[in-house]
Amino acid sequence: MTSDAFISIRNVDKFFGKFQAIDDVSIDIGHGEFFSLLGSSGCGKTTLLRMLAGFESPSSGEIYIDGQPMSEVPPHMRPVNMVFQSYAIFPHLDVRDNIAYGLRKQKLPKAKRDEMVDEMLELIKLPGYGDRKANELSGGQRQRIALARALILRPKVLLLDEPLGALDKQLREQMQLELRDLQRTVGITFVFVTHDQEEALTLSDRIAVMSEGRVLQMDSPTGLYERPSSRRVASFIGTMNFFDGTVSGVNGTSVEVAAEGLGTLRLDRRETAVAEGDKVQVAIRPEKLGISDSRPEGEGGRIEGTLENSAYLGERSHHYVRLDGLEKPVAVSAQNKENAIATADRARPIWLSWNEESLVLLAGD
Ligand SMILES: Nc1ncnc2c1ncn2[C@@H]1O[C@H](COP(=O)(O)OP(=O)(O)OP(=O)(O)O)[C@@H](O)[C@H]1O
Ligand SMILES: [Mg+2]
Repeated sequence: MTSDAFISIRNVDKFFGKFQAIDDVSIDIGHGEFFSLLGSSGCGKTTLLRMLAGFESPSSGEIYIDGQPMSEVPPHMRPVNMVFQSYAIFPHLDVRDNIAYGLRKQKLPKAKRDEMVDEMLELIKLPGYGDRKANELSGGQRQRIALARALILRPKVLLLDEPLGALDKQLREQMQLELRDLQRTVGITFVFVTHDQEEALTLSDRIAVMSEGRVLQMDSPTGLYERPSSRRVASFIGTMNFFDGTVSGVNGTSVEVAAEGLGTLRLDRRETAVAEGDKVQVAIRPEKLGISDSRPEGEGGRIEGTLENSAYLGERSHHYVRLDGLEKPVAVSAQNKENAIATADRARPIWLSWNEESLVLLAGD
């Protein structure tokens, strides 16, 4: 644990009766970080967010925000604000009153309050919308009003529970970029919940991948994608080919693996502790595999297989290549450049190639 963490979740468990929703979770989040909780439905994302907000208390463990233990601090005294999935804005109020809602207890002069609201309207790129009725707004605009209403209170932490979940794909992508810009502009810490891996990769400085109440891996988007620590994480983030193997030799940091379908591979890996005889998996992303009609030259690994199927997607094609000794075909994703292989002529011999650095070694799973 680093001591300069702005939010520190330490060994937190949460039980609902006998059911354990959160299982020994420890997460440190830095000041100004865009941090995402990613995982499938029911893995405990909302529960964790609600504990940060103070709507639920941990069964054991402790949460610190800005160095202070939160166990005795009620929700309204915490330096956090939460934006919910269903954009909870008040339909009977206009935009201005919606945004200023949280300020009403502060008894500010009207001019000051209006100035703060106008600033927020600029920030969310809806200047001049103050007098609109909430029910005269689009879904994306309502979502931005909900954000402004949370931001005007200047929380140190903004908790966002699938805030873009209800938007269509195009609006969602536009809002992702705006959200990221907004977070950079205001510089506050975001804890963002999503079950959409692409969204998490696009937005986050770091991501915690959760499953059944636990954190499986916590890393940057590149780290999770390039160096997944388990098969579950690797298959949750993007597509991955897996090959069963056995460690046939260890020499310093160099590991030799007899992999089904690929033959003997030599990998330079210090992060995965393995010993001779261990069952392991070797994994490689579809876009890290080269595909060609003739035997490729140069360094790296190569193997001949049979092109079983192809799908042309315009900018790229997906190919499925059958290798001797493997049940499932290997997935390859290739950009359609001038040297792209023909997709029409199937059931013909084809070559796969890879760089050693693209192979991921996973301890038996
Ligand atoms: N108040 C509660 N009482 C009992 N069980 C609960 C309660 N709140 C949540 N749970 C259970 O805890 C688990 C985690 O729920 P949570 O809402 O945190 O999931 P989530 O990751 O946010 O899922 P989703 O993506 O579907 O929103 C679920 O199995 C849920 O049924
Ligand atoms: Mg949820």
